[in-house]
Amino acid sequence: MVIDTSERQILSAIQGRQSVRDYTNHQVPDDLIRKIIAAGIQAPTALGLQPWRFVVVRDRDLMQRISDYCKPILAEGIEGEPHYPGTEFFLAALKDPGYSIFYNAPVLILILGAQEVVSSIIDCALCAENMLLAAWALGLGSCWVGSAALVEQDPDLLTALKVPGDHRIVAPLIFGYPATPLPPKRERRDPQVTWIP
Ligand SMILES: Cc1cc2nc3c(=O)[nH]c(=O)nc-3n(C[C@H](O)[C@H](O)[C@H](O)COP(=O)(O)O)c2cc1C
Repeated sequence: MVIDTSERQILSAIQGRQSVRDYTNHQVPDDLIRKIIAAGIQAPTALGLQPWRFVVVRDRDLMQRISDYCKPILAEGIEGEPHYPGTEFFLAALKDPGYSIFYNAPVLILILGAQEVVSSIIDCALCAENMLLAAWALGLGSCWVGSAALVEQDPDLLTALKVPGDHRIVAPLIFGYPATPLPPKRERRDPQVTWIP
């Protein structure tokens, strides 16, 4: 399995990638899923322990159950918080029975981090970014759906997802083919950079 890592391609994926929130029904082929995971595990890890494992979910009924479980918890959490731009829209979506937190994506990949490894959240987050970039390079859309981690509160769903008790869900990532043209990418603010000297 060879992934072209020329500098120009890497920078183009980094600059082009954006979250995709509308997918076609097209399934992502197994070999692309394997390539995405293979890119993920190239990430550095603090202690060299590679404290991750993966669950690939293509069962749409299960994804629907997860979404249905998370939506009311999310809505309740948001209602109690100070509102920021977009909150009203998101709240209305969460109350719409037709809305899925997975945006019709055909595949969800959970990155699980070993609880006993102190750096597993950071390690798995680096793995996740590699996977999002690899997906972009392979012509796929993706989105980190952090809200799906609420599923950890439901033992039945955790069992259905085969999440071992000594692991936590760090990064729920969706992948698929964008159904509609992507909106303009969110602008990045100029960062504050201190140069010494
Ligand atoms: C930790 C984390 C959790 C996220 N959770 C969600 C989520 O639950 N739902 C969602 O639509 N997007 C989620 N996102 C995507 C962000 O909203 C998105 O990355 C951000 O707005 C920047 O946009 P971009 O990815 O298009 O550059 C999450 C991103 C991260 C890093």
